Amino acid sequence: MDEFLEQLKKYAVDNNIPILQCDARTFIEQILLLKQPKTILEIGSAIGYSGIVMLNAAKKAHLTTIEKNAERVSLAIENFKKANLSERVNLIQGDAKDVLEELTNLKNGDAARVHGVSIGVSNESFSCADSGTLRAASPANYVISGSQKFDFIFLDGPKGQYANYFPFIKKLLADGGVLVADNVMLGTSGIKKLTNTQLIKKRQDFVDMIMNDDELITSIVPICDILSLSIKQT
Ligand SMILES: C[S@@+](CC[C@H](N)C(=O)[O-])C[C@H]1O[C@@H](n2cnc3c(N)ncnc32)[C@H](O)[C@@H]1O
Repeated sequence: MDEFLEQLKKYAVDNNIPILQCDARTFIEQILLLKQPKTILEIGSAIGYSGIVMLNAAKKAHLTTIEKNAERVSLAIENFKKANLSERVNLIQGDAKDVLEELTNLKNGDAARVHGVSIGVSNESFSCADSGTLRAASPANYVISGSQKFDFIFLDGPKGQYANYFPFIKKLLADGGVLVADNVMLGTSGIKKLTNTQLIKKRQDFVDMIMNDDELITSIVPICDILSLSIKQT
């Protein structure tokens, strides 16, 4: 698996696709090994690199992951298949805000109907439904229901949107659940050069939200481009 992940990393670097950096990867693996979540939600699948890392660390987990870019969705599907992880993945193509909103607004017992395309991936086949029930065409026939909460959420989508996603993410996070967000502040790599003050402010808004939320216990973790770690108190 390490060799395959190295290949994916090389592909990402060669094609300018941002993926989890080494130290951030180790940090997330450690949290997952401790927490052993059953359900993981990821915002920003890219080509599936972090999804594969997370499913390797959390052996019993099922991953729901959201990606807007169609080309990356196709690559991620292929990569989950190659890693033999398709049965544990529900990949949703769509804008994260729309998908999060629809997942959050599901009523108990309802299966999800999401904006965008839901792709269940399996080794044999995968199905797409642009307006149908959100479910994976995997043997487990995984269905996201209205009562779905996630034990672990990895927020790694568009950085300027984190504050807008936060109300949905908080509702989707299970009691005792863990939220990790990547790139929450200006860190050690290219983001240092960020001069867009509006984007800097949006990041700060998100940090203020998680730091000041009474239900969350949050730390800012100075690794790579700065992660946050929040635990939702029961
Ligand atoms: C930093 S990359 C994710 C990297 C991935 N988590 C990994 O470490 O392998 C962020 C991803 O978010 C996707 N993205 C950007 N805006 C989005 C949106 N509005 N909705 C869903 N995905 C979006 C981008 O296409 C990109 O692939």
